[in-house]
Amino acid sequence: MILELIEYLATPCSWTARKLGYLNGQLGIKVRHRQCRRAWQGHLERTRNIIRAAILDCPQRRKAVVLGSGLLLDVPLSDLSATFDEVVLVDVVHPLSVYLTARWYRNVTLLQADVTSTAAELARAARDASIPLPHAFPQLFCDDARVDYVVSVNLLSQLPYVPSHYLEKNSRPEAEIEAYGRDLIESHLDYLRRLPGVVTLITDVEKLKLDRAGEIVDRYDILYGATIPWPADEWRWEHVPLGHVASDFSYHRRVCAVKNVKSL
Ligand SMILES: C[S@@+](CC[C@H](N)C(=O)[O-])C[C@H]1O[C@@H](n2cnc3c(N)ncnc32)[C@H](O)[C@@H]1O
Repeated sequence: MILELIEYLATPCSWTARKLGYLNGQLGIKVRHRQCRRAWQGHLERTRNIIRAAILDCPQRRKAVVLGSGLLLDVPLSDLSATFDEVVLVDVVHPLSVYLTARWYRNVTLLQADVTSTAAELARAARDASIPLPHAFPQLFCDDARVDYVVSVNLLSQLPYVPSHYLEKNSRPEAEIEAYGRDLIESHLDYLRRLPGVVTLITDVEKLKLDRAGEIVDRYDILYGATIPWPADEWRWEHVPLGHVASDFSYHRRVCAVKNVKSL
C-alpha cells in the first residue's frame, strides 16, 4: 500500500492525466498482471510474436513507434531496439519501471502523450455540460517521414475506458458518453491508416463471460459498436481466470491482430 502510494506520487504524469484517472488505470493494470500473470502469458507472447513478424516486413528500419507501450508486458523491446535506429514509446503515462528500462537502450525514448488528443479538452468539457465533448483527430507522427513502423498495442479498447468513467462521475448523459467512446475508437482506426510505414494493430474487441464448464454465457462489445475493418488473426486472452473475481465465472477477451493495416 505504502509502496503503491509512493509510486503514485513519484510517477511523472501530467495534471490532466492524473485528474482523469490515467495514472490509477496504469497502476491497476500492474496489479492485475501480478495477480493473473500465468493466465496472461499466452496472450502477451502472441502479441510480441505478431510485432516480431511485422518488423521483418519493414523495407526501411529508421524509426519505430509503439502506441500504448504501458508496462511493456507485450512489447518485444530488445527486438525493436536491435532492428530500428530509433524507438519511441508513447503512452499517456509511463510507469516508473519503464523510465529505468529505457535507460538500458541507447536508442529508446519515451513520449508522454494522449494519442486521442482530446484529454485536455475533455477535462474542460466534463465540468460544463453545455460544452460538447471533443472530437478526436489524432495527428501524432503522421507527418514524420522517418517513421517506418508503428504498432498500436492492446490500446484501442482502452481509449474510451478512463474517459468514460470520468464522464460518468461527472454525470454526463450515457448517450453522449457512448458517442464519444465510439468516436475515439473510429478515429484511432482512421489514424492508423494515415500513419506512415508498416502499421500493426493488436486489440481486444470483445469481453466473454464463461461458466465453470468453459461455455460462453454472455458477450460484451467493448468497441462501442465499431468493428475492425481488416481481416485479422484472432485468439482468446484469459483476462480474469476462474475464481479470481467469482467462483462460477471467468472472463476472456477476444483479441484481433492485423500485422499491417496497409497491406489489406
Ligand atoms: C492495456 S494497456 C496496453 C498494454 C501495454 N502495452 C503493456 O504492456 O502494459 C493500455 C495502455 O494504453 C495507455 N493509454 C490509454 N489511453 C491512452 C491514450 N489516450 N493515449 C496514450 N496512451 C493511452 C494506458 O496508459 C496503458 O498503458
